[in-house]
Order: sequence, then structure tokens, then C-alpha cells
Amino acid sequence: MQSIATAPYELTRLSPSDMISTARAFADRMAARRSVRDFSSAPVPLEVIDQAVRAASTAPSGANLQPWRFVVMTDRDRKRQLRYAAEAEEREFYARRASPDWLDAVAPMGTDWQKPFLETAPVVIVVFEVHQGPSSPKPYYAKESVGIAVGLLIAALHHAGLATLTHTPVPMRFLNEVCDRPPEERAFAVMPVGYPAEDATVPDLVRKSLSEVLVRR
Ligand SMILES: Cc1cc2nc3c(=O)[nH]c(=O)nc-3n(C[C@H](O)[C@H](O)[C@H](O)COP(=O)(O)O)c2cc1C
Repeated sequence: MQSIATAPYELTRLSPSDMISTARAFADRMAARRSVRDFSSAPVPLEVIDQAVRAASTAPSGANLQPWRFVVMTDRDRKRQLRYAAEAEEREFYARRASPDWLDAVAPMGTDWQKPFLETAPVVIVVFEVHQGPSSPKPYYAKESVGIAVGLLIAALHHAGLATLTHTPVPMRFLNEVCDRPPEERAFAVMPVGYPAEDATVPDLVRKSLSEVLVRR
């Protein structure tokens, strides 16, 4: 087996108090993130999107295969096509395929089959897992790797002052056609990005406290 070359690695070392204040400030900033479903159609600087995708693509990945693709959609017609295709699937899903348990779980979000944000948001990023294909190897932990990348994408967009939503239509195969992507790419999530609409509201959710999610041993 061929071994990979190594390079020196240094990480700027902060004092404990600077570390704590930096960590606290980041957690406070992330605590202000919310999933938005009502977007303004105001354009956003596309360089911000590029840089957020760049941040996302620094994510760790199984065997460093970086099995992700980010399709950045800004074309109005294509976004409209995406909306109508997604609504056709979602209408069917909500009416027939969704389990009663799932419908109960999402009831507080007030979501239904209509997805106007896919057209209103100035940018929609469709994230794909890249599986084995003519020019891509079999990935390991594709879903986990892409999930981590999407986490970084959400954090980077929020940090830059943009809102997003993690939208997961069921099923997602139609996204290959809408985005013009090959079959070895499997859609993972659809992320509308932009500014919240002026009258946007979000569900008044409660996040679990630190003591509920952190276990010390
Ligand atoms: C994997 C995943 C899938 C999601 N799918 C949808 C979706 O299809 N539609 C939607 O409106 N919200 C979706 N959400 C958003 C969640 O409802 C939201 O993150 C949750 O209610 C917490 O709200 P917050 O993001 O504002 O903290 C999804 C979130 C995740 C992590």
C-alpha cells in the first residue's frame, strides 16, 4: 500500500480564557440560527455562496473521498421547475405516503406540500452524495460525510448573515433531472438560501439544554 506524504500542521494556540470566550461567542451565534421558510427574493452576493461551499468542502470525509456535489441554482426558470417538481412529489407524499406519526411530528412546523421558498429564495443549493460512477470511486460513509459538510455549509451561511432551510423532499430522484446530474449522484438535501422575508416567522421551538444533551463520564 502506498503511504501518503505528510506535512507539518500547526494550530494557533489560544489562552484558555480566549478559548472559552471564542467558544461561547460561536455557540451564541449558532444559537441564533433558525430554519427559515419565508424568504425575501432580494439577491445575495454569490461570492458568499461560493465561500460557504468552500467551507463546506473542508469537511472531513470517509477515506478523504469528499463525496459531495453542491449545485448552486440561481436561474429563475430552473428554480420554478424545481418548485413544481418538488410540490408534485410532496403533494403525493402528504396525501398518501406520509405515516400518521410523521405527520404528527411535523405538525408544529406548520409545513405542507407547498414549497414557494424554492422559487422565492434567490439561491437554492442542492447537495448530492457522490457514489461510485464512471469518474468517481465507491465512497465510504457518504451520508455521514455529506451530513457533516452540510452542517458546515449551514454554519458558514449563518455566520455570513444568510438564512437557510434543510429541505428533504421524499423521494429525491427527480432532483437529478432538475439539476442535470448523473445517476451516481444522489440528492441529500435542498437548501434555499437568502434573507428572511420581512414578515418571516419561525416556530417557537425550545432547544434541549446542555445538561440534557451532554453526558460526562
Ligand atoms: C435532515 C433534516 C431534514 C429536514 N427536512 C425538512 C423539510 O423537508 N422541510 C422543512 O420544512 N424542514 C426540514 N428540516 C428542518 C427542521 O424542521 C428544523 O431544523 C427543526 O425544526 C429545528 O428548527 P431550527 O432549524 O430552526 O433550529 C429538516 C432538518 C433536518 C436536519
